[in-house]
Amino acid sequence: MAQQTAVATGGGREIAPAKGKLGVMLVGLGAVSTTFIAGVENVRRGRAQPIGSLSQMATIRLGKRTEKRSPKIKDFIPLADLNDLVFAAWDPIPDDAYTAARKAGVLDPHEHLDPIKPFLQAIKPLPAVFDQYYVKRLQGTNIKKGKNKRDLAEQLRQDMRDFKKNEGLDRLVIVWCASTEVFLTPGPAHQSLAAFEKAMEQNDQSIAPSMLYAYAAIMENVPFANGAPNLTVDLPVMEKLAEERHVPIGGKDFKTGQTMMKSVLAPAFKARMLGLSGWYSTNILGNRDGEVLDDPESFKTKEESKLGLLEQILQPELYPELYGKVYHKVRINYYPPRGDNKEGWDNIDIFGWLGYPMQIKVDFLCRDSILAAPLVLDLALFFDLAGRAGLSGIQEWLSFYFKSPHTAPGLYAENDLFIQQTKFKNTLRWLMGEEQITHLGVEYYEYAEK
Ligand SMILES: NC(=O)c1ccc[n+]([C@@H]2O[C@H](COP(=O)([O-])OP(=O)(O)OC[C@H]3O[C@@H](n4cnc5c(N)ncnc54)[C@H](O)[C@@H]3O)[C@@H](O)[C@H]2O)c1
Repeated sequence: MAQQTAVATGGGREIAPAKGKLGVMLVGLGAVSTTFIAGVENVRRGRAQPIGSLSQMATIRLGKRTEKRSPKIKDFIPLADLNDLVFAAWDPIPDDAYTAARKAGVLDPHEHLDPIKPFLQAIKPLPAVFDQYYVKRLQGTNIKKGKNKRDLAEQLRQDMRDFKKNEGLDRLVIVWCASTEVFLTPGPAHQSLAAFEKAMEQNDQSIAPSMLYAYAAIMENVPFANGAPNLTVDLPVMEKLAEERHVPIGGKDFKTGQTMMKSVLAPAFKARMLGLSGWYSTNILGNRDGEVLDDPESFKTKEESKLGLLEQILQPELYPELYGKVYHKVRINYYPPRGDNKEGWDNIDIFGWLGYPMQIKVDFLCRDSILAAPLVLDLALFFDLAGRAGLSGIQEWLSFYFKSPHTAPGLYAENDLFIQQTKFKNTLRWLMGEEQITHLGVEYYEYAEK
């Protein structure tokens, strides 16, 4: 089985085996986290399928097409087994995972929550590092107290050590599934470890709670993935610290519904050299995430994350006549009756031969957390893999999962979903010493020999 595969064959990287238990610590125990945890438990009990998870369902082609080698990813590379995952979470709201899942209203209680009720009730959130300044629409009572931000970060480190010790875990991984914080930009406090630590001691406002979790994780050598759009690990201080301490980091903002569709459609227009004059995206959603994003400062963080990708995919600097004047608008409207079942509408104005206009309408009636949960699972497993394979710092190969991929400074991000998928699968092949697949394919034809 995959678990016993200790070392890559054929000249890949050394990968430590996925032995023992993996602790998955989630920042936030809301809709996404509870849908993820309850989902994994249902899958473990054989009650449901892990649909949407590449780590559980996808195959990977190896070698030539004629070799017909397509193992499942989980049988190809040593990933932690679902039965070895143990969960913990922090949240300023004291609800246990069962209560939180009921309130989130994503999963059917009869079908997917009540049968695992004691398991979910046993997951009680640890007190969070939380400050309403950064998430205006939330109030919480389950909050840590400390003499300054550095002290709070130390308390988070202690939580990680305690969880590991008390549960007898081999490794930890953290995924940020908490609310979107207000829009922040990198400043002097984020440039070096000395500046960051001093700023924590002085309770500097430029240090958001998410940064304290990220700092604590890196200091404890725990991989950290950011599923929300806030500025967290994409900071010089975190990048340097993660490199030095050999810890994988990455983000940001799970690429789930509307943006996932955008990263499929925009590359198609560019591939066919069709022009784009406007893209109007609007959403209605009624979950707590929607309520938090109703605050203009949190929305601004999300907006930046959603807007960037179109320009990066279309490259208007290379194609000014096709993409030089795109009107791109993104709206999110909080509309309680819809709960987690978001509706994302897109009106896309494109133009073709001789400039004739056309329109495309996309109406995606999706379920936010149903789309996000398998991403949390994959990120937890692949960030853990990255740690065991000695891949430190930014994990751009996992950009497949993110709206605003974290890249090396100065490097533009690849946002096209299928380039990201190729990058992802080729990284797995590279890790295991398998040949890269370029899709050239001339070897199947006679002219290749001439
Ligand atoms: N569902 C999706 O498709 C999707 C896609 C991309 C990004 N996201 C992001 O994922 C995050 C989670 O989404 P959700 O629908 O579960 O939201 P949610 O509101 O249901 O859950 C978020 C939880 O985080 C908690 N929280 C806030 N600040 C915290 C802190 N400092 N420490 C610990 N916990 C904290 C809140 O109390 C809440 O329970 C949001 O930031 C959202 O924008 C979701």
